[in-house]
Amino acid sequence: EATTIYIPVVFHIVLRNPLLVTDAQVQAQIDRLNTDYAGLNGDSTLIPAWFKGVYAKPNIQFRLAQRNANDEPSDGIERVTTSINNFSIDDTRVKYTSLGGADSWDHNRFFNVWITDLSQTYLGYSTFPNYGKAAEDGVVIKYTTLPGNPGVYGLGRTLVHETGHYFNLIHIWGDDTGCNGSDYCADTPEQGNYTSGCLRDSIHIDNCSGVGTKGVMYQNFMDYTDDACMVMFTLDQKARMETCISDDRPSLLT
Ligand code: ARG
Ligand code: ZN
Repeated sequence: EATTIYIPVVFHIVLRNPLLVTDAQVQAQIDRLNTDYAGLNGDSTLIPAWFKGVYAKPNIQFRLAQRNANDEPSDGIERVTTSINNFSIDDTRVKYTSLGGADSWDHNRFFNVWITDLSQTYLGYSTFPNYGKAAEDGVVIKYTTLPGNPGVYGLGRTLVHETGHYFNLIHIWGDDTGCNGSDYCADTPEQGNYTSGCLRDSIHIDNCSGVGTKGVMYQNFMDYTDDACMVMFTLDQKARMETCISDDRPSLLT
């Protein structure tokens, strides 16, 4: 059995009424992360036979921080009342207490996750490793993406997806609309553009798949499908996340 990696997480809940998000919802979100990053999700039965061989169990696990940045006891959940209705994805105020948000905890020791309200239809966003501004390193998610919320993005998988970016994963279609963009993972098929909704069909060929292939892997956490339809990381994605942790984020483990 491979060694399990444990990542300490702090959730900064920044809302007009931060009590809208309960401790139980935060725990359910941690559980969702742990189940999916262990590869123990029951809905992995949706993976078609031809992709089962690359279904990975990353063995990355997440724990609510038990000490804060000053080494005092903490439950890893911080609530901040803001007067700002919502934030856009380029609005960094959510990451600064002085601007109506919440300061990050030392990004070398904690995985910082801000739960807030986002404008437009944004669900969440993440920094990639080696992001220049340490105070802004981490993930921001809309509070309605936590498990137990209504709608197709209410199962907590936005944070699963964003955490993939935090560990250096790129969208599986390579972030272009042609066939040249890559996610640098050889076991995710060529894919022209993102997939939305929930196909639940069999082989889904797109303009980059090529004849006779098994089509795109719309069941992947790094596509744009509905929460109920994204169910897997691949072996190469697991390896890429592990490389990121050991090369770029090793201090999270100490
Ligand atoms: N659009 C966001 C991103 O690119 C999040 C997509 C999350 N999808 C989901 N089914 N929860 O980071
Ligand atoms: Zn993304």
